[in-house]
Amino acid sequence: MQAYQAAVHAASESPQRFWEVQSRALDWYSAPQKILSRDEQGAQRWFADGLLNTSHLCLDAQIAAGRGAQLALIYDSPVTGQQARYTYQQLKDWVAHAAGMLKAQGVGAGDRVVIYMPMIPEAAVAMLACARLGAIHSVVFGGFAAHELAIRIEDATPKVIITASCGIEIDRVLPYKPLVDKAIAEASHKVACCVVLQRPQCQAELHGERDVDWHTAIAKAEAAEPVPVRATDPLYILYTSGTTGKPKGVVRDNGGHAVAMHYSMHTVYGVKPGDVFWAASDVGWVVGHSYIVYGPLLAGCTTVLYEGKPVRTPDASAFWRVCAEHRVNVLFAAPTAFRAIRKEDPSAKGLQGHDLTALQRIYLAGERLDPPTYDWLSDTLKRPVLDHWWQTETGWAIAGNPVGLQLMPVKAGSATVPMPGYQIEILDDEGRTLSAGQQGNICVKLPLPPGCLPTIWGNQARFEAGYLNNFPGYYQTGDGGYLDSDGYLFVMGRTDDIINVAGHRLSTGEMEEVLGSHSAVAECAVIGVANELKGQLPVGLVVLKDGAMVEEEQLSRELVAQVRESIGAVACFQRALVVKRLPKTRSGKILRRTLRQMAMGEAYSVPSTIDDPAVLDELKAQLASLEDCAIRPA
Ligand code: COA
Ligand code: AMP
Repeated sequence: MQAYQAAVHAASESPQRFWEVQSRALDWYSAPQKILSRDEQGAQRWFADGLLNTSHLCLDAQIAAGRGAQLALIYDSPVTGQQARYTYQQLKDWVAHAAGMLKAQGVGAGDRVVIYMPMIPEAAVAMLACARLGAIHSVVFGGFAAHELAIRIEDATPKVIITASCGIEIDRVLPYKPLVDKAIAEASHKVACCVVLQRPQCQAELHGERDVDWHTAIAKAEAAEPVPVRATDPLYILYTSGTTGKPKGVVRDNGGHAVAMHYSMHTVYGVKPGDVFWAASDVGWVVGHSYIVYGPLLAGCTTVLYEGKPVRTPDASAFWRVCAEHRVNVLFAAPTAFRAIRKEDPSAKGLQGHDLTALQRIYLAGERLDPPTYDWLSDTLKRPVLDHWWQTETGWAIAGNPVGLQLMPVKAGSATVPMPGYQIEILDDEGRTLSAGQQGNICVKLPLPPGCLPTIWGNQARFEAGYLNNFPGYYQTGDGGYLDSDGYLFVMGRTDDIINVAGHRLSTGEMEEVLGSHSAVAECAVIGVANELKGQLPVGLVVLKDGAMVEEEQLSRELVAQVRESIGAVACFQRALVVKRLPKTRSGKILRRTLRQMAMGEAYSVPSTIDDPAVLDELKAQLASLEDCAIRPA
């Protein structure tokens, strides 16, 4: 049997045995005896009686293994012109003092800390410092507005917030502190302390006793030792878009996460200690958690933390420069980044003068890798270009190319094959297993492997309702697609109201709440339409209240501003159309799925429950005017 098949077989025959073997690669304080068990809520938990500390595994254990003088982190920031390099020893000392700083603010095991920072090394240091104390971090992406931050503060109830004075976008400095102050004022939960890293590009105003200067506090702090925690204790909460307005706090535990990260670094990415790994994402997303911070350090690699964009910082050769300069072995980015590069530099002239001999493979995720981008990238780089599919909820690849076991032939448009530990089945809406080639709901047979979410923060019922109840015995991914006769998975898109804009996951439900709060709007639907660069873009369809006196263009401008103010620039909400009616079922439910299919130019059938099919004809012409380009399932 080939290595991949053998691993799949072992992981499905005896998940406990398989993951126990993987867990042995880590330096536990007390190795787990209970490999898979159920907690008091009945949820499946990995390694329940194991004791460990994730910061210890990422830093102290690496130093003990002889990597103290090896580079752990390279910071490359074209937006500031800065670069910095930190060895494992230096990073450990920094993290230990940052942990001491948090300890002095009363942070201990189980306390929450919200981190709202740009792509600077201090963001990774803050995360690892929380992990060192057994505290639970919740990183919020810098592109979210104050209101989104407030929602997360309300839900996670942090003791401390860590922020920086500003983020730096392509053409502007974005002061963060006024935003943080606004969010703190909006949330009813009151944080005890706000630690602020002052950056030279913008000085933040510090208020009273609540605000603490990062540099001053660290200089005074004593180094803190790692605190042993149970494997099932949360390492972090990461909020992600759900189908309602309220984001879901995905919980990641310490033990399962460490085992899964370590396993994936070898199996999915094929790296070894000392390799240079660059995930061109942001610490605010799951890719940043898993593959900028934890995965590479758990595997003894050097991670690159890049504060810049694929284009315009300063140009489309930025990625090639970083790969050459830091001898990157593995690059991971979102397809949209390469679409942006290709748009500006279709013949890849920017490659000239950059030595990419170290670069072995390129990984893509975050959205579907469309075949034209795949073709361009593999023709340009002449190296394996590997799509892999996963979600905030799983923390690591559900399907990919298991290069650490064996490199499978690539099929453009497919995320390749299920990773060992994930038993994927395609189910129809009634829960029947579909055969090869038939499209349906992509589900994973329980138990989920280590690393996947055990629950939603403070809301087990939402976890069960959102992922487990529709298909008993399975985890419902929310994606649709099919397995072909070779067992390759083709992910075709979400089956719910989540859209993917420039590799960023966004909830249309959340945008609808914002549009619905406008005084002229009677009802609305937000749908994703195809976009050449960003994959999808949200568009609002709004029905006006009777007698509402507002120009369509003026209303659209107001709604765009409202979404930006409430959710943030990252939503990329740029357009609202006034429509006469929205298609509904006879019981009054808006037929969002049909709208979505129409907007993406996909085949759709008129639902039998529709109240008035003529509404679809009315909308057809308006939706057709939105078609921008055909990044559609082949
Ligand atoms: N902090 C503050 N604002 C941010 C931000 C951050 N961290 N990230 C994005 N924004 C803002 C942008 O400045 C932009 O604002 P604008 O509307 O005023 O111009 C808006 O949010 C939309 O950002 P984005 O969708 O990123 O568009 P862009 O035009 O700035 O860049 C790309 C386009 C393709 C270069 C960019 O989207 C990109 O690099 N995508 C890759 C995404 C990625 O890595 N995702 C991780 C998943 S693996
Ligand atoms: P996030 O939780 O932000 O990582 O977004 C997860 C969602 O992004 C998935 O449920 C998919 O809809 C989409 N996605 C991520 N990677 C891929 C991929 N390789 N192919 C297709 N869709 C993807």
